Amino acid sequence: MCGIIGIVGNQAVSPRLIDSLKRLEYRGYDSAGIATIEGGKVERRRAKGKIRALEDKLLSEPLSGLVGIGHTRWATHGVPNERNAHPHTAGRVTLVHNGIIENFAELKASLIHQGRVFESDTDTEVIAHLIDRQLGLGDSPIAALKNTLDQLTGAFALAVLVAGENNQIMGARRGSPLVVGHGVGEMFIGSDALAVGPFTNKISYLDEGDFVVIDHDRAQIFDAEGTAVDRPIKIVSASAALVEKGNYRHFMEKEIHEQPESCQRTLGAYVDALTSRAIPTEGLDFASVERIQIVACGTASYAAQIARYLFEQLADLPCDVEIASEFRYRQPALRATTLAVAVSQSGETADTLAALRWCKAGGLRTAALVNSHESTMAREADFLWPTHAGPEIGVASTKAFTAQITALTALAVTAAVQRGRIDAAEETRLVKVLLEAPRLIAASLQTEDAVRSLAIDTAKARDVLYLGRGPMFPMAMEGALKLKEISYIHAEGYAAGELKHGPIALVDESTPVIIIAPQDSFFEKTASNMSEVIARGGRVILFTDEAGAAHAPQGARVVIAPSSDPLITPLIMSAPIQMLAYFVAVQKGADVDQPRNLAKSVTVE
Ligand code: AGP
Repeated sequence: MCGIIGIVGNQAVSPRLIDSLKRLEYRGYDSAGIATIEGGKVERRRAKGKIRALEDKLLSEPLSGLVGIGHTRWATHGVPNERNAHPHTAGRVTLVHNGIIENFAELKASLIHQGRVFESDTDTEVIAHLIDRQLGLGDSPIAALKNTLDQLTGAFALAVLVAGENNQIMGARRGSPLVVGHGVGEMFIGSDALAVGPFTNKISYLDEGDFVVIDHDRAQIFDAEGTAVDRPIKIVSASAALVEKGNYRHFMEKEIHEQPESCQRTLGAYVDALTSRAIPTEGLDFASVERIQIVACGTASYAAQIARYLFEQLADLPCDVEIASEFRYRQPALRATTLAVAVSQSGETADTLAALRWCKAGGLRTAALVNSHESTMAREADFLWPTHAGPEIGVASTKAFTAQITALTALAVTAAVQRGRIDAAEETRLVKVLLEAPRLIAASLQTEDAVRSLAIDTAKARDVLYLGRGPMFPMAMEGALKLKEISYIHAEGYAAGELKHGPIALVDESTPVIIIAPQDSFFEKTASNMSEVIARGGRVILFTDEAGAAHAPQGARVVIAPSSDPLITPLIMSAPIQMLAYFVAVQKGADVDQPRNLAKSVTVE
C-alpha cells in the first residue's frame, strides 16, 4: 500500500507535502517523491528509502510552488529505487498512484509501439502516458483522465498534475481509498484522513469509481459514468495528537500501552456498563444466522480464530475462519443463511475486501468489523461493527488486535443471548467479566520488566516456537507473527498438541519455546509438553497466570500475567506477548514501526 497527498494551497507546498508523507509513511516506505507546479511547469524530486532521504534532497534541491503532489511507496512493480519512485511523468502529466494496474503490460506494449518511451518499470507510468496521449488527442484534462480510467483494469488511487494547469489537481479512486480535504481557500486530496489531518478535519470520501478535480475553492466530483455528484463533507477526528508518539520510542510501544483505553472504547459500542447487558446488534438477529464465515488476513485472522471458540461455545453457532487470500479460490459451498464477516483493521486489505465482495455477490449478508469506519469494507458491508482502537500507525497490529477480540467476544455474548443459549443472569455475568478487561490489560502491562529481561537471550535465537492450546493456539500464531515481522527472527506458532507430531525435532538448547498457558482446562496437557521440551534441553518460556506459575516445571522461565476468567484470557495474554516481540526487535536494532518489506495495509492481492 502506498501513501498519496495532493495540495492546492496558498503557502509553500513542499514542506506541507513532506509533513503529510511522514504521517503516511506507515503505508509504505521504500521510496518517496513530490512534484510541484509553478508558472505552468512541473518539477519533481524523488529519493529511494525513507522520507528523510527525500528531505535531504530537497535541502540541496528545493522546490517552490503552492500546488503539488507527494507519494510514499510500497513497491509492487519495479524495485525500490529513484527511477521507480513516484511521481511519474509523461509529457504534460505527472502523477502518483496507489494500487495495481492489472492490464498494464498490454497497455505499455501498445504505447511503446506508438513510439512512447518509458523511464521506469512501474505500472503507474503507463497511466501518465495514457492521460498525456488523450491530451494530445484534444481532450480536456478531466476528459483525458476519464477516458484513461475507462482503459484501466485493476486498483488505483491517483493524484494528477497537468503542466499548464497551475491551480488544479485531479484524482480518482477504484479499489484504493482516496479522500478530499476541504480547507479555507485551499483544497487537499489524500489516501486517508490522516494524510490531510494537519490541514483540515473536513473530509469527503470518494466512492468507488469516482474521479475529481480540485482547485483552491472547490472539488468537482464525478461518478464512474462521468456524472457530477456530491459527496458529503464529514468532520473527522484524525487529529495530529492521535498520531504522535508522545513519550514513547515507537508507535508500537505507544499502541501496546493504549490497549486498556482502546479496549474500553470498543467495549462501549457493544455492552452497556450501566445495565451489564450486551447491546443488540443493529439490524441483525443472530437467531436468523445458521453459520458465521469469517474472512481475514494476518493478525486479524488470529483474532477471528479466537472468536470462533466463543461463538461456538457460548452461542452454539457454527463458525469458520479462513484466510481471505485462500477463501474464494476454493469456491466454498456457501448458504444465504451464513453471515459473512470481514475482520480488518484498515478495512482496505485487498484479499479480505475481495472475499467480502465475493460473499455479497453470493447473496450472503455481510458484516465488517473494522477500525477504519469510513473504509471500503465499512461502506460496502451490510453491517458495520466498529472497533475504536484509534489510528494504529505501527505496522505490527497490537491495539487493533485486542480491540477486534474485544468486539468479537462481546458479539459472541450477544449471539448467545439472541439465540437463547444464555439467560439474563449469565449475560450479566459475562458482561461484567468483559468490563474487567481494560483494568486487567493495564495490569498485564506490568509484566514489562519481566518480558524485557527475556529479550536479550531470545534476540540471539535463529528459530522460535510458540505453542498454545484452545484459544491460546491462535495466540501462539499471533505471537510468532509479531516476532517474525518486526525482529526478522523465524518463528512458528503451533498447537501444543502437535509438538510431538514433528516440530519437537526442532527443539534444542538454541531454540526458545514460548508456551502460552494460563491455568485453564488445557494446562495439564500443556505442562507435559513443557516437560518434553525441557527433557530435550529446550528452553521453555512460559506465559501464564499465578495458578499456572505454581505448576511450572523446573527450568522454565515464567512471565506471570493477571489471572482472569477464560472469556478474556486472550485479551490479558496479548500485551506480554506483544512486548516480547517489541523488546526483541529493539534489542536487535530493527525498524520496529516500519519493518522491511511490510506496509500497514496490503491493498493489493
Ligand atoms: C499485523 O501485525 C500484520 N501487520 C498484518 O498481518 C495485518 O494484520 C494484516 O495485513 C491484515 O491487515 P488488516 O487488519 O488491515 O486487514
